[in-house]
Amino acid sequence: MAMRIPVDGVDLAVEVQGRGGAVLLIHGFPLDRTLWASQVAALARWRCIAPDLRGAGESSVPARPDDYTMGRYADDLIAVLDALGVAECVACGLSMGGYVLFELLRRHAGRIRAAVFFDTKAEADGAEAKRGREAMADLAMREGAGAVADQMLPKLLARDTVAAQPAVVAQVRQMMARAPVPGLVGALRALRDRPDQTPTLRAIRIPVLAVAGAEDQITPPDGMRAMAQAIRGAEFAVVPAAGHLPPLEQPAAVARLLTGFLERI
Ligand code: MLT
Repeated sequence: MAMRIPVDGVDLAVEVQGRGGAVLLIHGFPLDRTLWASQVAALARWRCIAPDLRGAGESSVPARPDDYTMGRYADDLIAVLDALGVAECVACGLSMGGYVLFELLRRHAGRIRAAVFFDTKAEADGAEAKRGREAMADLAMREGAGAVADQMLPKLLARDTVAAQPAVVAQVRQMMARAPVPGLVGALRALRDRPDQTPTLRAIRIPVLAVAGAEDQITPPDGMRAMAQAIRGAEFAVVPAAGHLPPLEQPAAVARLLTGFLERI
């Protein structure tokens, strides 16, 4: 069961499980904390903290798109760490969660002792991507979250997942279809306006693992490899038979990678 933690006028739903060093798990768009359920179960020797970002999952949903930025999401997470008495954590972010993690490193570097990036990138949106965000926000407002889910689903999962794991396909679709529309619209605004984080890469001085799904169409492995090469000392791993969502598509492989990294650092 999730706790509710009040931060900056919103209530965040946060799953907290296990004992030991803190591991913060930041979900992507348009998802929620259940993305990480298998990892929370597998990392029993760590204190896993998996929040729903503002406007996602069971967290409260600010109505104004201006209330959503990557910096705002990051500041919310620091308030969650403060509320839980966590001085320092290992932070893992998938895709948009990775953009939030960059913002954590930029604003609150002292709180993050190591970072794991899944299927993300440092670059900001170009003009065409920005137009895509606006079109998706219009679609969400006109037709609801189900329409966004239908548009995104074909790009999210590996062929093997679609062929062999119907329960995962259904879970991902449901997760997206239940997303609150103002949260989607706000997240799309935050995605559209996020800063270029390539200068952040050069400044990182903590242990980093970058993980790519071998068949990710949204943030392909080559881009993740290049991102890892731009971070001093970063490790890079590819998860076979996974698309954009390795924690759901190949949970055992992801748990092995995370456990190995956490034990090494
Ligand atoms: C995500 O998975 O968080 C999004 O696909 C990120 C993006 O669209 O840039």
